[in-house]
Amino acid sequence: MKFFYQQLISFLVVIGIVITLFYLSVMNFSRNTLEQENYDELDYYAERILSGFEMSMELSGNSANIRDQFRKALDDARNYYEKDNLEIAFVTAKDSVPYSTDDEMDFKLEKVQWKELKQNKNIKYHIGDYDCVAIPFRYDQPGSGKGYELDGALVLSRSVEHLASRLAPIRTNLIRGAILALLISILVCFLFARAQGHKIEKVKAATHRVAYGEYVKIKESKLNDEFDELARDFNAMVTNLEIANDEILEQEERRKQFMANASHEMRTPLTTINGMLEGIKEGVVDEETMPMAVDLMAKETTRLIRLVKENLEYENIRANKIHLHLTEFDATEILEDIAAHYQKAAKEQNDKILVGNSGEININADYDRFAQIVVNLVTNALQFTSDGEIVLTAENQEEHTVVSVRDTGIGMDEVTTKKIFDRYYQADDSRTAKKGSSGLGLAIVEELIHLHDGKIEVESKLGEGTTFKVFFPHERT
Ligand SMILES: Nc1ncnc2c1ncn2[C@@H]1O[C@H](COP(=O)(O)OP(=O)(O)OP(=O)(O)O)[C@@H](O)[C@H]1O
Ligand SMILES: [Mg+2]
Repeated sequence: MKFFYQQLISFLVVIGIVITLFYLSVMNFSRNTLEQENYDELDYYAERILSGFEMSMELSGNSANIRDQFRKALDDARNYYEKDNLEIAFVTAKDSVPYSTDDEMDFKLEKVQWKELKQNKNIKYHIGDYDCVAIPFRYDQPGSGKGYELDGALVLSRSVEHLASRLAPIRTNLIRGAILALLISILVCFLFARAQGHKIEKVKAATHRVAYGEYVKIKESKLNDEFDELARDFNAMVTNLEIANDEILEQEERRKQFMANASHEMRTPLTTINGMLEGIKEGVVDEETMPMAVDLMAKETTRLIRLVKENLEYENIRANKIHLHLTEFDATEILEDIAAHYQKAAKEQNDKILVGNSGEININADYDRFAQIVVNLVTNALQFTSDGEIVLTAENQEEHTVVSVRDTGIGMDEVTTKKIFDRYYQADDSRTAKKGSSGLGLAIVEELIHLHDGKIEVESKLGEGTTFKVFFPHERT
């Protein structure tokens, strides 16, 4: 069933129940009130009849026969209250009914009721559809010396039907009100359910479009309800999806680019090696040129091996196949070794390479991987710096050992800086077209640092130079 109808039905069921309960309780309350009124009136009439009778007895000087006098008083009352639909009866304490305006009704009273009457209490009860009130009738038989004695009970009753006629206008008004309330609620429920359904439709349509690759967003309303929260989260999800998708496309593009580059890079050494081998086979390469040819082939083979190795290395780190052998060692010492190793290469580009700190700096890391990270950063610095300076520094901070490689080379702009850790990324510049480089160096460096639970930061300014800072934690989590 559609959400719209589910909403509508559930609203209507709730409203229906509320209206019915309201109707029943109002009717019940009115009936009880009217019944109470009925009893009160009956009480009042009975008291009046009795006081009228007592007055007539006093007037006659108590000479008349009490029962006759009482019968006469009841006859008078019967005539007087004719329009009030009263039934009047007198029941004696011996349970005979010497006077009754309705012979079909059994006015006799129960023992418990007599008991209460004896205690001079008025009692209320039902006989069939009639509300009844009985009040004690006492008299003092002159000369008996017994004082006032209970002789019987005056019973007044009136049909409940009399109530029904009074309830009718209340019922009619209530039904009218209920119908009006129901109509208004149906309208409100309809509008409300339609609005909710509309919002869900919007999410559904947007989800459908996103599922098929169209990154649409939902317009939020100002109500700030759950639907708006949903819309906000949905929009955030779409944004992230879009970014992720762009990243995938970019990675794919880079992978393709890398494959093209790698194939190209591999073809050159392979062609060289192939050419050399042909020459040897044909006897073109004589003994004198042989060492040179072998040397060239060895160099080209090393380049090929490096390319393949870097790719494998990256994949292995990503697949968690590399395990660290953590030890404590002196970072300054290894920085000095690396600086010494690259002294010659630096000189060729008129660069200075030096270590910026002295003294032992203890570091907790994998020795070989640490060297690999620094070498990567140093070769990059050398690659992009000429007539400048490259400074390697290690220092201990509260939670980390920080190793930095600073150069005064060509630097990078902000956009490039954000991308350099991406796999296969090389700034699109002729300066990076160094043969054999793959754009994997920093991607590998970053993965190795993550293995150490560390982080890497880069600061660079175009034309001024670049500083890489690597943070190795003293303690692992
Ligand atoms: N010190 C630096 N100064 C200027 N640009 C740099 C520096 N270090 C890195 N880059 C930029 O970041 C890119 C990515 O570096 P990365 O080390 O990942 O690749 P690569 O050096 O080009 O190739 P590989 O390291 O695989 O031989 C470089 O191509 C260069 O554009
Ligand atoms: Mg590099």
